[in-house]
Amino acid sequence: MSKNFDVVVIGGGPGGYIAAIRAAQLGFNTACIDEWKNEKGGPAPGGTCTNVGCIPSKALLQSSEHYEHAGHAFKDHGIDVKGLSLNLPQMLGRKNTVVKQNNDGILYLFKKNKVTFFHGRGSFVKGDANGYEIKVAGATEESITAKQVIVATGSNARALPGSPFDEELILSNTGALAITEVPKKLGVIGAGVIGLEMGSVWRRLGAEVTVLEALPTFLGAVDEQIAKEAQKLLAKQGLVVNLGVKIGDIKAGKKDVTVDYTDDKGNAQKAVFDKLIVSIGRTPNTTGLNAEGVGLKLDERGFIAVDGDCKTNLPNVWAVGDVVRGPMLAHKAEEEGVAVAERIAGQHGHVNFNTIPWVIYTSPEIAWVGKTEQQLKADGVAYKAGTFPFLANGRARALGDTSGMVKFLADATTDEILGVHIVGPMASELISEAVVAMEFRASAEDIARICHAHPSLSEATKEAALAVDKRALNF
Ligand code: FAD
Ligand code: NAI
Repeated sequence: MSKNFDVVVIGGGPGGYIAAIRAAQLGFNTACIDEWKNEKGGPAPGGTCTNVGCIPSKALLQSSEHYEHAGHAFKDHGIDVKGLSLNLPQMLGRKNTVVKQNNDGILYLFKKNKVTFFHGRGSFVKGDANGYEIKVAGATEESITAKQVIVATGSNARALPGSPFDEELILSNTGALAITEVPKKLGVIGAGVIGLEMGSVWRRLGAEVTVLEALPTFLGAVDEQIAKEAQKLLAKQGLVVNLGVKIGDIKAGKKDVTVDYTDDKGNAQKAVFDKLIVSIGRTPNTTGLNAEGVGLKLDERGFIAVDGDCKTNLPNVWAVGDVVRGPMLAHKAEEEGVAVAERIAGQHGHVNFNTIPWVIYTSPEIAWVGKTEQQLKADGVAYKAGTFPFLANGRARALGDTSGMVKFLADATTDEILGVHIVGPMASELISEAVVAMEFRASAEDIARICHAHPSLSEATKEAALAVDKRALNF
């Protein structure tokens, strides 16, 4: 096996494995090093996203939604389900199978694209513009060289000071995806993306869920009108979200966790939970890389410092994904991976941060791209807004899911689309049309004039675009 590579990627998550595949496609002799282990100690490439993030969370979101629908939503469709019961081991087993299919898929893609895979921890030994020596510490230890290095080492869950994750009572995303018995009372600290998704899963499966959030506003980064609608819909489902709290002491006992906090009115509160998920953001992962040994610069928050092209301070060393600035999203990591591989090949890879979509996979889903109304106001941009409720969409009625709306924000003068915000069924799929439109710098009128299939949820997108010009047809 060759030990001298053109490109070595450290980290096999969405940023790393995609960068490796693209580099190989471009003709580089490429290796990818990843240390993630499956339960048998074997390789499990795909990073956080595949193993304890995007994929297993969506598997459980889907299963728990089926369970909830079977419980009551099916009745409305004339389907009576008798003797409904939850088989949690089967549900978790299915989730693990889905994860393994993705791990195996990545190993297959490495083979197909002739990427050499190393299972172990990669760290810098030494190097300069002429090349780098990298140590791989796995079942055996070996040394490889690279002309170009792409660091894609991802991120880890942030714990509350003094309350480390034990994954039994105080859970990170890893433990939150592997609870073996539905907790009666589940506490969640942080009403961000993980808090709302994981809170939804366990509420649907029967837990009484209380989410404690430090900020006084719900989903502050989301368009205010959409966030308010989402807050109302999630509250109706029984997800309790307490805003403006200050977390105090957390005590893990033998079987439960006690959380002392101050509520938004300044009153001292105490809550006892069977399990506590802490989802207060993630920190970049650079441990074990020997960044300091080779002088790889980190920024003040511990991310690898990069410029707009993902170049680090070291010649021919690049970094992508969660370990660098920007949204911690798998598709952002992937796009950066592709762009870097193409730049190494002398091409002009580019990532447009303004058109990166966000999705929160609650029910209904929340998805957006571009600017929110509050951002446009703060920036002093003159805009027009148009909204269309799913209540007035035929397909949503047929589905039995009419919650939420589509909202368009367009420039008041040019009509260029500046932002699209959706809360409603299949928002994760619907948002793609808005991303394409914004990439092509389309106007709201462009979308309004495109023929959309009937009956489809995407007609709500067209109608919201029409509403920008106050001429929605079905509302
Ligand atoms: P990672 O996926 O973290 O991969 C880094 C890899 O590098 C890991 O395998 C790690 O073991 C390995 N590694 C680290 N250091 C070394 C080393 N020195 N040597 C060898 N290997 C090393 N994003 C979305 O876009 N959509 C979602 O639906 C979504 N859901 C999520 C749900 C949860 C619960 C969580 C926690 C995250 C979710 N995310 C989602 C975020 C997404 O997982 C991350 O943005 C994405 O995984 C980042 O990719 P990455 O390649 O930068 O890093
Ligand atoms: P987050 O940044 O989405 O949310 C963290 C929340 O915790 C914030 O609302 C914050 O105000 C709150 N918080 C912080 N400190 C607190 C404290 N001491 N007490 C109470 N509340 C506190 O982070 P989260 O949910 O941990 O997710 C991490 C990242 O993973 C996300 O930002 C996202 O990038 C990614 N992710 C993406 C998903 C998706 O795309 N669907 C799904 C899950 C995660």
